[in-house]
Amino acid sequence: MLASSEEQAVADATGGVSVRPMREDDLEAADRVMRVAFGTFLGLPTPEEFMGDAAYIRSRFAADPEAAFTAELDGEVVGSNMATHWGSVAFFGPLTVRPDLWDRGIAGRLLEPTLELFERWGVRHSCLFTFAHSPKHTGLYQKFGFWPGALTAVMTKPVEAGERTVATYSELPQGERSGAIDACAAVTESVYGGLNLAHEIEATDRLGFGETVLLAGADGLDGLAVCHLGPGTEAGSDTCFVKFGAVRSGDGAGERFERLLDACDALSADRGASRLTAGANMGRREAFKAMVARGFRTDLQGVALHSGDDTGYNRPGRYVIDDWR
Ligand SMILES: CC(C)(COP(=O)(O)OP(=O)(O)OC[C@H]1O[C@@H](n2cnc3c(N)ncnc32)[C@H](O)[C@@H]1OP(=O)(O)O)[C@@H](O)C(=O)NCCC(=O)NCCS
Repeated sequence: MLASSEEQAVADATGGVSVRPMREDDLEAADRVMRVAFGTFLGLPTPEEFMGDAAYIRSRFAADPEAAFTAELDGEVVGSNMATHWGSVAFFGPLTVRPDLWDRGIAGRLLEPTLELFERWGVRHSCLFTFAHSPKHTGLYQKFGFWPGALTAVMTKPVEAGERTVATYSELPQGERSGAIDACAAVTESVYGGLNLAHEIEATDRLGFGETVLLAGADGLDGLAVCHLGPGTEAGSDTCFVKFGAVRSGDGAGERFERLLDACDALSADRGASRLTAGANMGRREAFKAMVARGFRTDLQGVALHSGDDTGYNRPGRYVIDDWR
């Protein structure tokens, strides 16, 4: 049977898609495609307003320009994907394709170089966050070996005002910074072998996205929280977003986690944010319950997908905040 001329045009056009490393001059279009894609999928009345003044594309590209890929058709950006490398753990997203070109294999094309990059990084665990209710999303990722684990809730609570001080990475003199990075690595090592946030901490500081909270304890560092603050970051206006937080695993971790949450509240109040947003995977159930008990409520619920059978640090006893979006 002959394809209609419209179908033929789309097939020909999609055949011309090329996938390549992202460039600086892709950013504006890639950002627009990302917002329209999510906004369309979520049924927003004005899809291009998805995320408001929060952002992923520019900030992630600035943090790691070699971990971003663009799909191009006839000289136009029609999709992109970005990868994040936290030592032994890597995840990807936002993966987006312009809605008029959905279901033509472009996301699959973008995943190929992304997964090759994971291989080159030699990570122990690769994973992602996706929409739990979408058969298309789980079907797409299963083809690439990713299987659903526990639900992840992206949650928000109002910030509690108060006179509290909080120690941050940016306040440290240069000479103390590498020691702090090593101390953070010791905390994350206790959560999952090889997990390392050094690059995220440095990029957040260097690019002015926010602050890394350093939670001191009697025997060294008890925890850390990499937080984005304000417009142009993953937080957006009036919000402090905990991109990653963790405390040392083992005896007393629950108490350390309460203090870390206090410190995130204090940072938010100090910077004038009224909302504290943080992700909690339900496989880390003690941490999830502690956050709910504090008044965090879910804005968005998705699912963590993992390659292979290892669910990484999404398991009981791991007091971690993140969502892998
Ligand atoms: C999700 C998204 C990136 C997919 O892009 P795409 O280019 O349409 O995806 P592809 O065409 O490469 O792959 C779609 C796959 O979905 C799967 N799929 C679709 N419907 C399915 C269903 N009902 N059941 C199971 N699998 C299904 C198929 O495996 C299909 O692959 P196939 O070509 O082998 O049939 C795109 O729809 C998008 O931008 N959505 C909005 C943003 C978003 O949700 N991003 C992902 C966040 S994790």
